[in-house]
Amino acid sequence: MTDTTTATIGLTALDRDGAASELAWEPGQSLMEALRDNGLPVLASCGGTASCATCHVFLDPAVVTRLGERGEDEMELLEETEHFDEATSRLSCQVAHDAALDGITVRLAPEEE
Ligand code: FES
Repeated sequence: MTDTTTATIGLTALDRDGAASELAWEPGQSLMEALRDNGLPVLASCGGTASCATCHVFLDPAVVTRLGERGEDEMELLEETEHFDEATSRLSCQVAHDAALDGITVRLAPEEE
């Protein structure tokens, strides 16, 4: 049987111009790292510490629900962003690899003005 906790999973990434690409998401990577390391334009200027919001993404509302409560820092930062959407916004640096997320679609949020 495959050990799903250590298995590489896949996701579909939608760039800011709508271009779709299929990416591999390795165990141990945050979602931000999977996007950035696969060449998506995620600046991640704070390095994944929930303090820059340049890794803001939109997920399916059902996925956001499954992920559970956002951390306090994440929520405060997201609420300050121009394109925050309660149902779909997450900071991708705060989303850990999880086999249950295999096949999700991730859309990069527009860059802040
Ligand atoms: S990388 Fe800075 S908030 Fe996610």
